[in-house]
Amino acid sequence: MTSSTTEPPALVIDDVPFRGIVEQSLAGVYVVIDERFVYANDTFAAMFGYSPGEFIGRRMVDCVTPDSVAEVQANYQRRMAGEVDSIRYTTRGLRKDGQIVVLDLHASRVDCRGRPALAGVALDITDTVLRQEELRRSEAQLRSLMRRIDTTRESERARLAREVHDVLGGMLTSAKFDIARIVRRTQSEPLAEIHQIATDLLTLMQDTIDTARVISNEMRPTSLDLLGLHTSLRQAVERFAARHRLEALVSSQGEARRVPGAAALQIYRIVQEALTNIARHAQASRVTLVLTETDTSFELRLLDDGCGIGSNPCREGSIGLFSMSERAREIGATLQLGQAPGGGTELTLSLPLPLPTPVAAGGQSHSASGGPG
Ligand SMILES: Nc1ncnc2c1ncn2[C@@H]1O[C@H](COP(=O)(O)OP(=O)(O)O)[C@@H](O)[C@H]1O
Ligand SMILES: [Mg+2]
Repeated sequence: MTSSTTEPPALVIDDVPFRGIVEQSLAGVYVVIDERFVYANDTFAAMFGYSPGEFIGRRMVDCVTPDSVAEVQANYQRRMAGEVDSIRYTTRGLRKDGQIVVLDLHASRVDCRGRPALAGVALDITDTVLRQEELRRSEAQLRSLMRRIDTTRESERARLAREVHDVLGGMLTSAKFDIARIVRRTQSEPLAEIHQIATDLLTLMQDTIDTARVISNEMRPTSLDLLGLHTSLRQAVERFAARHRLEALVSSQGEARRVPGAAALQIYRIVQEALTNIARHAQASRVTLVLTETDTSFELRLLDDGCGIGSNPCREGSIGLFSMSERAREIGATLQLGQAPGGGTELTLSLPLPLPTPVAAGGQSHSASGGPG
């Protein structure tokens, strides 16, 4: 073998050995005249399960699925009419064995021996497309499963909330009245000790009744119906701040109960999860809630002054943030979590109003009834 020291010449386009390139190409290459394939390389014919010899001469429309015919013909006509020179699109080819092959095609109008023709290249993207479809299907299944779990959970919570409210609340209230009677009947000096015990017990009873009311409302926020979304959220944040000894700054503007019950419940659940996260992860000293409602939107901002959302490693299996964004998605709201001005975490939720009917009507309605006691 001899080696040459001179550099190989740069080729001009006419010298490029196109024939070899086309025949070995891993992309399909084809030429169409009068809506028939007049050339196909091995790769293109193989995409349809044929040899080039079998494939050439076939009509374009016979090589695609019936629902693709109209688009294939329309794209062909547009290029033949000179409306556009080339088009890239995806279509569904029909293989010899009846299977579908999904093709990414890019073909241009050319002149071929004095006749108008289409010269194109094609990629077989069947696997990618099938994988994407499979992924979309399983995502949709997952979403509907999550919705089902959520609905079941909400109705279970509602049942427990009713039990706590009606049964436990009723029993506690009866006990409270009995204790109040003991307090009244032990006013005389010899019973002073019992009187004091009963008085303390009465205070404890009232606290227990209040706690049961809070628990019942957190499981099923009937306050949403009674007091509206703004007040319910304000109260939730204030209760949370008191429980965790944080400073709470809450403000709300323009409440006119435009957010329907089902969406209000989802927003309430989002805030509950965000508050749990603040308690668990933020190490904050202050929590701020800003609510703004207009004819066309409901906006919510929840800020903490803690360590910031990026500062902790994410636990495996965390679904809090995921479930928050799924809830927002379900009602057509946009939800963002990021860094608050001056550090900490900021959650913003924006819901366009009025809501389309299916969203507004979705979910379960909550019964309007007071707390226990
Ligand atoms: N307010 C916050 N401040 C700091 N970190 C947060 C806050 N909210 C969420 N995070 C971070 O985001 C992660 C994911 O939250 P989440 O999905 O609710 O899971 P989990 O609360 O179960 O850890 C948390 O583990 C935490 O690291
Ligand atoms: Mg969480």
